[in-house]
Amino acid sequence: MESLPGKAVSYWLDSTFKSRCDILKDGIKVDVAVLGGGIAGLNIALRLKESGLKVAVIEAREIGSGVTGHTTAHISSAHDLIYADLEKNFGKDGARIYGEANQTAIGQIAAVVKRYKIDCDFRSVSEYVYAERNNDLEILRQEFESAQRAGLPVSYQGSAPLPFPTAGAIRYSDQAEFHPQKYLLRLAEIIDREGSYVFEHSRALDVEVGEPCIVKTNKGELTAKEVVIATHFPFLDRGGFFARMTPYRSYVLGIRVKDRVAKDMFDSTERPSHYIRTQLTEKGTLTIVGGGLHVTGEFSDTDRFYRELEDYARSHFRVESIDYRWSTQDNYPFDHVPFIGRFMPNAEHLFVATGFQGWGMTTSMVGAEIISDLIRGKDNRWAGLFSPQRFKPAAEGAELVDRNVKVAKRYISDRLKKARTEKVSGLRPGEGKIIAEKGKKTAVYKDKNGKVHEISPECTHMGCLVNFNSAETSWDCPCHGSRFTVDGEVIHGPALAPLKKKV
Ligand SMILES: Cc1cc2nc3c(=O)[nH]c(=O)nc-3n(C[C@H](O)[C@H](O)[C@H](O)COP(=O)(O)OP(=O)(O)OC[C@H]3O[C@@H](n4cnc5c(N)ncnc54)[C@H](O)[C@@H]3O)c2cc1C
Ligand code: FES
Repeated sequence: MESLPGKAVSYWLDSTFKSRCDILKDGIKVDVAVLGGGIAGLNIALRLKESGLKVAVIEAREIGSGVTGHTTAHISSAHDLIYADLEKNFGKDGARIYGEANQTAIGQIAAVVKRYKIDCDFRSVSEYVYAERNNDLEILRQEFESAQRAGLPVSYQGSAPLPFPTAGAIRYSDQAEFHPQKYLLRLAEIIDREGSYVFEHSRALDVEVGEPCIVKTNKGELTAKEVVIATHFPFLDRGGFFARMTPYRSYVLGIRVKDRVAKDMFDSTERPSHYIRTQLTEKGTLTIVGGGLHVTGEFSDTDRFYRELEDYARSHFRVESIDYRWSTQDNYPFDHVPFIGRFMPNAEHLFVATGFQGWGMTTSMVGAEIISDLIRGKDNRWAGLFSPQRFKPAAEGAELVDRNVKVAKRYISDRLKKARTEKVSGLRPGEGKIIAEKGKKTAVYKDKNGKVHEISPECTHMGCLVNFNSAETSWDCPCHGSRFTVDGEVIHGPALAPLKKKV
C-alpha cells in the first residue's frame, strides 16, 4: 500500500521546541491543582493565578502534547452549525449565552496575548461558515438568523472568498487565529513561577476530595484546596462523563497551494465539515485543511480518512505539496454544550472542563471564566448553561441511550466474538490485528522492521477491546476513546494504566 503523504506530525509541534518543566515533587501544597496541560488547563491556571491563587498544573506527558498540539486553532464563536440547534435545545437565551461567552473568550485570548506580549502569530480574521451546495442554503440561512438573534457579529454573503465556488456563507467578523503551541509554551512559563508550578511527566491517578484535597500521581502526592480536571476526557469515572459524550477523531493536512487563499478561516456546512485556514511559516504560507470524522476506535483502516482528505484538497486547490498530516480527537456532549463547572453536585472542591466538541480554543477560555468565578465564590451568568449538572432529556436523552446501548453491546460482543486464529507470521509489516493465541486474544502489531509487539487488547478503562488504528499506529478504544501505543503505553485517557503485557 502506498505510504501516506506528508510528515506525520502537526505543524505546531514541528515548529516549536519541547517544553522542559519539572516532574512533580512529593509534598507540594497549593490553592488549586489543575490536572492537564492543554489549552483548558493552562487558560484556567493562568486565570486563577492572576486572581492571586497559587496553582500547580500537572501534565501526564508534555505541555500541548495532547489534543491542543494537534488542533487547527480557529479562535471562533462560529462553531459549525450550532446556534439553530442551541435555540431548539436551550431556547433563545441559551443560544445567546453560548454566543456571548464564546465571543467574549476571543477578546480574552487577545487580551492575554497582548498583556504578556506572547509571540504566537495571533491575528484577527473572519470565520466563514459556507455552503458549497445550494441544498445547504436553507440550513445556512436558519443558522444565520439564529446567530444574529444570539447577538453575534454576523453578515450573510453570497459566497466565501475561497478559490473554489461556494453557494453562500455566514461571515463572522472579530474572530482570530494563532499558533496554539507557541501560546501554550509561553503560558506555561508565565504560570511556572512565584509559588505556582507546571509539572510534566506526572500523571494524576486519583483525587481524594476533602479539605484539603489530595491529588495522587505516579510521581507522588500534591495537596490543594481545589482541584480542576482538565485532562480532555476526565479520568475519574465517578462524574459519569463517559456516558454523556462521544470522542470523535478528525484529520488535518498542511499543504502548499498555487492558489491565493484569503487570510480568513473557513468551515463548511457539510457533515462532516471541511475546515480551512492558513498559517505563515518560514517556507511561506501553509494552508491547513481538515475533514473526516468518526468515533475514536471505530475503524482500523484509518489511512482512508487521510486519502479522502487528500482527494478533497486536490479537487479544491492546486496542490504543490503536502507537507504535514496529523489527526486528533475531541469529545462531543449529546446536547451540544461543553461541561464546565462542578464535577459532581456534592463534590464541593472538584471542578471539570471538557466536551469542547471541536471548539476548545474559546470554550476553554469560557472554562477559565466560569471555574475561576466558582472557586472564588462569585456568581457567573454563563455557569448555568454549561453546568455539568444540567440534564435536558429532550436534547440529550435519545443520543445518550443510543450511544450507551452501542457501548454496552460492544462490550458484550467483544467477549462473545472469537478472535481470528491467524498466525503472527502471517502479519505484514505495519499491520496490527487481534488474534487468538492459545485461546487468548492478543493485540499483535508487526513493525516495519518485522519486530512483533504483543499486548492484551483489553482496555484498562472499562475492558472493551481496542482496535488497531493504521494511520496513527496505535490501539484505540471504541468505547470512550482511550488510545495506547503498540507497546501499550497510554496516549490518551480516560484510561490510566497501560495495556497489560503479554505473559
Ligand atoms: C482535528 C481537530 C481540529 C480542531 N480544530 C479546532 C479549532 O480550529 N478551533 C477550536 O477552537 N478547537 C478545535 N479543536 C478542538 C480543540 O483542539 C480541543 O477542544 C482542545 O484542544 C482541547 O483542549 P484540552 O486542554 O481539553 O485537551 P488537551 O490539549 O488534550 O489537554 C489535556 C492534557 O491533559 C493531559 N492528561 C490526560 N490525562 C491526564 C492525567 N491523568 N493526569 C495529568 N494529565 C493528564 C494530556 O496529556 C493533555 O496534555 C479541534 C479538534 C480536532 C479533533
Ligand atoms: S476507554 Fe472506556 S473502555 Fe476503553
